[in-house]
Amino acid sequence: MYRKFIKPLLFSLSIERAHRVVILFLRIVGLIPGGRWLLHKCYAVENPSLEREVFGLHFPNPVGLAAGFDRNGEACRELGALGFGFVEIGTVTPQPQSGNPRPRVFRLPKDHAIVQRIGLANRGLAVTIRHLRRPHEGVIIGCNIGKNTATPPEQAPADYLKVFRNLYQYADYFTVNINCDNACREGTAYTRDHILKILEPLFDFRRGQNQYRPIMLKVSPDMPDEVIDRVTDILLETPLDGIVATNGTNRRDGLQTSRLSLEKIGSGRISGAPLTRRAVEIVRRIHTRSGGTYPIIGVGGLMTPDDVRAMLEAGADLVQLYTGYIYDGPGLVGDICRALITDEVQRLQEAAKAVAEPTAAKTTEAAAEKAAEPTAVSAETPATAEDPTSRPTAEPAAAEEAATTPEPSEPSDSGLPATDPGAETTSARPEPAPHKPGEQA
Ligand SMILES: Cc1cc2nc3c(=O)[nH]c(=O)nc-3n(C[C@H](O)[C@H](O)[C@H](O)COP(=O)(O)O)c2cc1C
Repeated sequence: MYRKFIKPLLFSLSIERAHRVVILFLRIVGLIPGGRWLLHKCYAVENPSLEREVFGLHFPNPVGLAAGFDRNGEACRELGALGFGFVEIGTVTPQPQSGNPRPRVFRLPKDHAIVQRIGLANRGLAVTIRHLRRPHEGVIIGCNIGKNTATPPEQAPADYLKVFRNLYQYADYFTVNINCDNACREGTAYTRDHILKILEPLFDFRRGQNQYRPIMLKVSPDMPDEVIDRVTDILLETPLDGIVATNGTNRRDGLQTSRLSLEKIGSGRISGAPLTRRAVEIVRRIHTRSGGTYPIIGVGGLMTPDDVRAMLEAGADLVQLYTGYIYDGPGLVGDICRALITDEVQRLQEAAKAVAEPTAAKTTEAAAEKAAEPTAVSAETPATAEDPTSRPTAEPAAAEEAATTPEPSEPSDSGLPATDPGAETTSARPEPAPHKPGEQA
C-alpha cells in the first residue's frame, strides 16, 4: 500500500512538504476518536520477546524513531501508535529558530539516502512543552536537546540546561546533541572539556530531582576513532548513561549519485544507506571499549531487518530509524519486529538442540564403549543418559522454553503474529543495563 500508492505521492512533493503532510495527517488521525487505536491495530507488532529493559525503562520493542522527524513533539503519540518502541523528539533549542534557507533537505534515491542542512529548525521550548503536556502514556519519549545557532559556544551549556530542566518532567530520557550545526567548529565541539561543560550542569540538576532521567550523548560518524574513544571514556568516568551513535555524515565518498547532482545540492549531512557500515563500526567500538555494560542506541543507515540485526549484534541495545522509514514506509517497523521474533525463536530452538545433542552423543558414545568392554565399568566410564547425574545442567530453562516455543508464525491480517512465540521467553531477554551508582535521585 505505502510503496504502491502513498510513496509515489509523497515523493512527488519536496521532502519537507511531504514531511509536513505526514505530520499533519498523523495529528488529524490522532484527533479522531479511535484513530490511534486503528494505527496501532494496523502497524504495531507486540510480543514479549521484543520487550527490553534499558536504562531503567521498559521498551515494548527496541525500534525507535530517530530525532529530526518530530522536532516539536507534535505527533509523538501517533508515531508511538505506528509501532515504534520509543520516539525521540527534537532537536529542541531554547528559542524557536527557522534554520537554513529552503531547499535544505534532498533525496538521493540512487543511494537510498537523504542530505539535510536544516540547521536545527524547531519551534522552541515553549511550543514543545505545550505538545508534551498532552497525555502520552504508553509512548516512551526521548528528547534530543541542543543549543540555538546564535548562541556562542561558551554559552552553550546554559542553552542545554534550559531545555533539559524545562522538559525534565515531560520526557523519559534525554539525548544531548553536540553535533555541529553550521555555526560551530568540529575541533572545539568535541573536546573533553567542552563536552563536560555541557554535561555537568545536567548531572547537577538531575541530582536534585525525585525522578531519574537517563542522559545520552549523540555522536557523529565523522568523529575520528580517537574522539569516539574519548567520548566512551566520558561514559565510563561520569554519570552519563549511554551513547546514541550516530548522526548523519558530511562525507561524500562511495555515492552512486552523480558528482554534478551532489554539487548542485551543496553541503549537508547524509543519512541512510551510505552510513550503515560506519554507524555499526562505531557502535561495535563503543561496545567493546565500554565492556558491553552501557546502553547504546544504534542509528544510521538501518534500512532493513538485516541492518538492524547487524547493529544489535555490534552491541546496540536499542535502534532508531529515520531514512529507512522514509524509503520503506510504516511497515518497516513491523518487518523488523517480526524478524527479531523469528530470530528469538530460532535462538531458543538452537539452544534446545545444543542441550539435546551432547546428551544424545554421550548416550551413543557410552553404548559403543559398553559394547566394546561389556564387563569393564570403570570410574572413567562416561555417564549415560539413563544416569540421572549425567543430565546436562547448562541452560535447562532454555531447553524447556524451546520445547514449549511454537514455530514462528505468519503475521495475522492486523500485522500481529498469529501466535505468541515469545510468550515463554522472558528469561532470555537481556538484563537491564545498570544505573550508575549514586545517580538514582
Ligand atoms: C531530515 C533530517 C533531520 C534530522 N534532524 C536531526 C535533529 O534535529 N537532531 C538530531 O540529533 N538528528 C537529526 N537527524 C539525524 C537522525 O536522527 C539520524 O541520526 C540520522 O539520520 C541517521 O539515521 P538514518 O540513516 O536512519 O537516517 C536528522 C536526519 C534527517 C534525515
